[in-house]
Amino acid sequence: MTQRHRTGAAAGGLAAALTALALLAGGCTEAGGGVRGTPGAAGLRDPYFPKLGNGGYDVRHYALTLTYDPASGRLSGTADITARATQDLSAFNLDLAGLTVGTTTVDGAPAAANRAGNELTLRPREDIRKGAEFRAVVAYAGVPEPLTDPDGAREGWLRTADGAVAVGEPAGSMTWFPGNHHPSDKAAYDITITVPAGLEALANGVRTARRTAPDGRVTSVWHAPEPMASYLATVTVGHYETTTERPPGPVSTGSPTAPASPTGSPGPSVLTAAERSLAARTAALRAEVPGIVARQERLFGPYPFAVAGATVVADGTLDYALETQTRPVFPLASFDRTTLVHELAHQWFGNSVTPASWRDLWLNEGFATYAEWLYGEAYEHVPARKRFETAFAQEANWAFPPAEPPTADNLFDAPVYQRGAMVLHKLRETVGDRTFDGILRGWLVKYRHANATTADFTAYAESVAGRDLGALWAVWLYGEDRPSAP
Ligand code: ARG
Ligand code: ZN
Repeated sequence: MTQRHRTGAAAGGLAAALTALALLAGGCTEAGGGVRGTPGAAGLRDPYFPKLGNGGYDVRHYALTLTYDPASGRLSGTADITARATQDLSAFNLDLAGLTVGTTTVDGAPAAANRAGNELTLRPREDIRKGAEFRAVVAYAGVPEPLTDPDGAREGWLRTADGAVAVGEPAGSMTWFPGNHHPSDKAAYDITITVPAGLEALANGVRTARRTAPDGRVTSVWHAPEPMASYLATVTVGHYETTTERPPGPVSTGSPTAPASPTGSPGPSVLTAAERSLAARTAALRAEVPGIVARQERLFGPYPFAVAGATVVADGTLDYALETQTRPVFPLASFDRTTLVHELAHQWFGNSVTPASWRDLWLNEGFATYAEWLYGEAYEHVPARKRFETAFAQEANWAFPPAEPPTADNLFDAPVYQRGAMVLHKLRETVGDRTFDGILRGWLVKYRHANATTADFTAYAESVAGRDLGALWAVWLYGEDRPSAP
């Protein structure tokens, strides 16, 4: 029997009578070994965003069924969340900002819902046993309000003239669906989205169906089975042109008999999109996506997802390009080859191997920046050492150590990107090219589709190198000051 019922008994009168009924109703649960749960934590104590995410459960799958009306800006949706309890639970939280919550159920039975700030608490009738899988279904609707990040960037569900674009790093996804919005809880996603006739609706993964209802509205069904952190979930609605490509052929041989890629994998299928007025002028660079991915497979190993791509949206919508899983999104102004290489590199560094907390963000940005340097060295004749020396000379890159941004406002500052990349270059020079290559590829295999911390990386690098690298980390990863020489 649950704590809740006992508390009710003390309230006397009617409550006691109800409690008696509840006790009777709950009798069989008791006989089966009733659970006495406690509420899951309202946050995961992230060093920068302590209330992001929630404790007590681990999401396995999100099925989001959305309808969007660009004219009114109204989004209505159902989030059907499959999770596993990691403790005996009497209640648990989801992160949700704005919107109005309708019916809420847990395992098909109505569950009480309470909201406070960005926390939605669901209290099921029966406590949930540790280890049990359960389903929470939340109906919701409203006009989503974007968030302003600590660094001033706007994110979340961003409305456009004829649609919307949803991006969520670090915290914007709570503006368009309830969830466990911390990068440490990755899950599979199925996103179904219905929009007015004539509009495109894109999301992560592979489109498995597209159907037109009698009223003309169009529903697209997107399947993204590989684990995904919620900040990488995306939706794009509007007038878009799309291009689909089969897995790319060989990068350089041009021979029909050569293996499809040096890794032996046929490579992912590719879907790129551009807002229709930008389609022609972005076509050439979008067509480079398969080739860039194939080259990156040579550098890092197999691409970790079934599909790749890029979506280009009009300027003024987004403050930043984002590596949204399988389909990074770019404002036109940042749709250039370097940024494309960067966001595609994040599919390995950040999306497959995901930081355990926001403190570990350099594992994304330092690595994606170094991926640009490696790509430039391998394919554009610019030695990484040169990029390293340029970055070393820039004052702004030394504001703080990459693994220790002072506050949430500094998460995306230059040191996380540039000093992060410098750490990797220094590591490479210290252990040699072959060992460095082994570290980079092995890291991606060991933590594929998982989460990792900075300590995981330093320990892994030392284990592959077979030596202590403490002095290197002390200066380049954690040191406050710029060393005297690059
Ligand atoms: N991850 C993005 C990149 O590839 C940047 C996201 C910036 N987010 C922000 N809130 N400033 O560089
Ligand atoms: Zn990045």
